[in-house]
Amino acid sequence: MPSDYRVAVVGATGQVGTLMLRLLREREFPAREVVPFASERSAGRVLAGAGPDGADLTVQALSDESIRGFDLGLFSAGGSTSGEWAPRFVAAGATVVDNSSRWRMSDDVPLVVSEVNADALRAHAGIIANPNCSTMQMVVALKPIHDAAGIERLVVSTYQAVSGTGKRAVDELLDQSHALLHERDIDAPSAYAHQIAFNALPHAGSFAAGEDHTDEELKLVNETRKILDDLAIRVSATCVRVPVVNGHSEAVNVQTREQLSPERARELLAAAPGVTVLDDPSAALYPLAIHASGKDGVFVGRIRRDRGHERALDLWIVADNLRKGAATNAVEIAELLHQRGLVRPQRTAAAA
Ligand SMILES: NC(=O)c1ccc[n+]([C@@H]2O[C@H](COP(=O)([O-])OP(=O)(O)OC[C@H]3O[C@@H](n4cnc5c(N)ncnc54)[C@H](OP(=O)(O)O)[C@@H]3O)[C@@H](O)[C@H]2O)c1
Repeated sequence: MPSDYRVAVVGATGQVGTLMLRLLREREFPAREVVPFASERSAGRVLAGAGPDGADLTVQALSDESIRGFDLGLFSAGGSTSGEWAPRFVAAGATVVDNSSRWRMSDDVPLVVSEVNADALRAHAGIIANPNCSTMQMVVALKPIHDAAGIERLVVSTYQAVSGTGKRAVDELLDQSHALLHERDIDAPSAYAHQIAFNALPHAGSFAAGEDHTDEELKLVNETRKILDDLAIRVSATCVRVPVVNGHSEAVNVQTREQLSPERARELLAAAPGVTVLDDPSAALYPLAIHASGKDGVFVGRIRRDRGHERALDLWIVADNLRKGAATNAVEIAELLHQRGLVRPQRTAAAA
């Protein structure tokens, strides 16, 4: 089993890609070479100190020649880039871990959260999908509850940070806030349909024609069921974009098949991998986006009995959407592939 991989990071100049490069370096992933890819616009740009050994890396453009000879490709360049280039990387011999939504619901593609369903990696055919950030943090906290009491229904309201939309949305929030604080008019919004500064938008993601849920809300429904391997779980989701730079928060009402006390849920969560319980409301202790930002874990608090249902609990779940919600989980998947000898595809993908 080789342990010195040649790794491509596709989308290396973006928020998630930049973090993936940093995590590969900080966590000492056994890479003999890391090559950053981005769009043609960025080709030739030098990423100072971004290599595994702190060396400068030069951004490459994607081409049939430049993608040859990789063991692993970590993608965070959007769905259309993944749709076009992930299969080409696989055909050239690499295994791809993809952050976009392009492959998540394909039968042939495992959708993996490292703490929740790592065994799903066993049968991969070259592409492994990283879940949507809101789903990712939620299932890390729900897994121990599902194992103990079986989840029947979830009612989820998200409070999602603008970094989840990309760097241009972060710039838009900061520019609007600055303009409004200086009593100036703002430019016409471009990242969102409405002003995001000092506002809350019940519109995270996009509405397909004739659809009354956003794609972000449907991801919470479908990805949760796939990851927890239980199509009977009913999920009701409202995704809201809030003027937070980084870190998604979620209010989750969990209805279980068996009764589960808040005390037992707190114990289960405290022992769960990747979860930190912060739950002393009388001391104003609960998870906050500003504290979760920059950290790898999932933080859970406000654990309480739903006064309206004897088999339901309420939770407040917060995580860094760029870290556990994207880059950290992708690098953890690469580590699991290495540890389990699964970097090479285990079978051939079914014809698309
Ligand atoms: N942000 C989150 O919380 C989050 C969470 C989970 C998953 N994701 C997914 O991760 C991906 C990236 O998100 P982000 O926030 O990092 O976005 P971002 O900051 O806007 O970065 C986008 C990256 O994709 C590259 N790219 C764009 N078009 C390309 C093309 N045609 N060919 C090659 N590279 C191209 C960009 O390169 P240039 O710099 O050259 O334009 C840049 O490196 C998206 O698929 C997103 O859905 C994001």
